[in-house]
Amino acid sequence: MKTIKTIAIASFLAVSLAYFVAGCTKGETPGPAGQEEEAKWVIGMSQCNLGEPWRVQMNADVKNAADQHGEIKVVFKDAQNDTLKQRSHVEEFVSAGVDLLIISPKEAVPLTEPVQKAYDAGIPVIVLDRRVEGDDYTMFIGADNKKIGEAVGKWIVQKLGGKGKVVELKGLMTSTPGQDRNSGFRKGIEGADIEVIFEADMKWLEPNARKEMESALARFDDIDLVYGHNDPAAHGAYLATQSVGREKDILFVGIDALPHEGQVYVKEGILDACFEYPTGGKEAIDAALEILNGRSVEKEMVVSSRVFTPENIEKGGEWL
Ligand code: FRU
Repeated sequence: MKTIKTIAIASFLAVSLAYFVAGCTKGETPGPAGQEEEAKWVIGMSQCNLGEPWRVQMNADVKNAADQHGEIKVVFKDAQNDTLKQRSHVEEFVSAGVDLLIISPKEAVPLTEPVQKAYDAGIPVIVLDRRVEGDDYTMFIGADNKKIGEAVGKWIVQKLGGKGKVVELKGLMTSTPGQDRNSGFRKGIEGADIEVIFEADMKWLEPNARKEMESALARFDDIDLVYGHNDPAAHGAYLATQSVGREKDILFVGIDALPHEGQVYVKEGILDACFEYPTGGKEAIDAALEILNGRSVEKEMVVSSRVFTPENIEKGGEWL
């Protein structure tokens, strides 16, 4: 009797161990047992970097939405802000034969070719937030950066009473949001007496923005407002300004409005306005499911955004 019991326990342990080892060696991050077997489709998610809170949020939005659907599994790759690495990641996803690719590309031109190749190979591609050139992809999802830039311009004209000196800290100008937030803004201030006295490409990075703002402050005694193409830029500019004691003389405007970043800056009085830039992560998974289930989708999906100011933030902002 005792021997039978011992054998039973021993074989139970052996089976459990084998199961555990198999589970652990299968995927990069083992999920609940059996998850890999159940997933019918694998989605490759190529993220250009995870150095900024906004991109961490985008991946979390993708993951949370995907977790609701056992039939899909998302494999994430982070290109660490390196265009060549992101090109390789797309190629790796194609060779691995993913069922669908989601990409948030660092720059438009260099990522166009690998995206086109994936699409030509029959892999549906969802381009998220930053664009590529041409239209060799299944669908684009993102907010309207021209519209946001124009709304920023109009808000500034109104806030400054039609006249003032502005510093523009631009996002990476080889990426489409940087280009559109710039051209939209210029349209928004057309006809007003707003002078852009200093502009620089901070490549979306707070330390660069801070450095550029130090130069602007050293050159100009009279600055009315800083327009940062993202919240990290506006925040970096604020810190540079605060360190020379001029933060009360200058207004700061940013874009992204994450609840735990830009919206907090507005509540703390660091930013005077913050324009929302939704990640589109959940929308990308919803669209991926449509595509994988053989249903047709629109080529473009625009996600809407709000503006947050100290006056409206407690009420949830105002839609553009
Ligand atoms: C993050 C980010 C955001 C910005 C977006 C534009 O990498 O710089 O702050 O809104 O990319 O693509």
